[in-house]
Amino acid sequence: MDKPVVENQALLTSALAGLRATPKTLDSKWFYDATGSTLFEEITQLEEYYPTRTETAILRDQAARLARHVPAGAALVELGSGASLKTRILLDALPELAAYVPLDISAGFLARTADGLRAAYPGLNISPVVADFMQSVTLPPTLTDRPKVAFFPGSTLGNLAPEDAADLLKRVRDWGHVEAFILGVDLVKDPQTLILAYDDPQGVTAAFNLNILARLNREVGADFALDHFRHEARWNAKAARIEMHLISTIAQRVQFGGAEIAFSAGESIHTENSRKYTRASITQIAEAAGWRLDSFLTDPKQWFGVCVLTPSLYPA
Ligand code: SAH
Ligand code: AVI
Repeated sequence: MDKPVVENQALLTSALAGLRATPKTLDSKWFYDATGSTLFEEITQLEEYYPTRTETAILRDQAARLARHVPAGAALVELGSGASLKTRILLDALPELAAYVPLDISAGFLARTADGLRAAYPGLNISPVVADFMQSVTLPPTLTDRPKVAFFPGSTLGNLAPEDAADLLKRVRDWGHVEAFILGVDLVKDPQTLILAYDDPQGVTAAFNLNILARLNREVGADFALDHFRHEARWNAKAARIEMHLISTIAQRVQFGGAEIAFSAGESIHTENSRKYTRASITQIAEAAGWRLDSFLTDPKQWFGVCVLTPSLYPA
């Protein structure tokens, strides 16, 4: 039999490490291939997935106030920009902005998004960067001396392990000439609302979760039988996070990259954490990474928070 072609060595290495560990894990950054990015956009349209419309409403209501933190001639650098839809609210309020840098790991989706933005904002320098924000990123050299404002909406910070989130906040602070960081965070609320947002009856979130296995089949020649795994969303109150899991419904073996991975019936692959914050918890995280909370903007139900952080001295 022909050996499957391994198209993505980094995915293979990461998946083998995660699936050989106990408990089994897969890094959520691998959700975002072309299919995953499209499925995520579908999630954002779901009635049950309240974060997108709630954050969008806050940004609309507070656009003028947020604009005051962005100096004329600045560059707006967005982490995990996806479809850059929320960004348009800021861009419309920032006629003096010099450049917009959308940064994302999903290369094709980013390129298409950048084309759409260039057509909509012909006077703006749009410089997309394909990068993993878990590592130090290289920004376009033309921006070195420009004032910068970082934008990280969607509560994507909550998908990072706490130590990775802290490192990312410190790295952004150290970009140089960073005036402010506009950071969206999803807030702790009743578990029923949270679970429904991550386990919609239409099954879109299930398809998004299962796509990570489909991606392993496509890109590293794995032989996951998708109908023998089911999606599960759990609220972990102690860690204040929603967890997504893929549960093996039978005892089975999966092969890829020269390895064989055994699953018992009911065994989980933990695929994502989505941390939920309070004003106090995000303040503490931000301060420990060298930021001060300037403003905390929220909606009437206090379901989502948009933080404006400004650089401070590192704590001693
Ligand atoms: N900002 C958008 C999209 C959020 S979805 C919104 O608020 O709706 C999360 C985005 O982060 C996706 O576009 C995904 O491709 C990107 N992403 C996830 N992990 C990443 C990583 N490690 N490095 C860079 N981008 C990442
Ligand atoms: C991108 N990120 C903030 C989403 C979240 O809510 O944690 C990803 C997601 N996972 C399931 N639904 C949406």
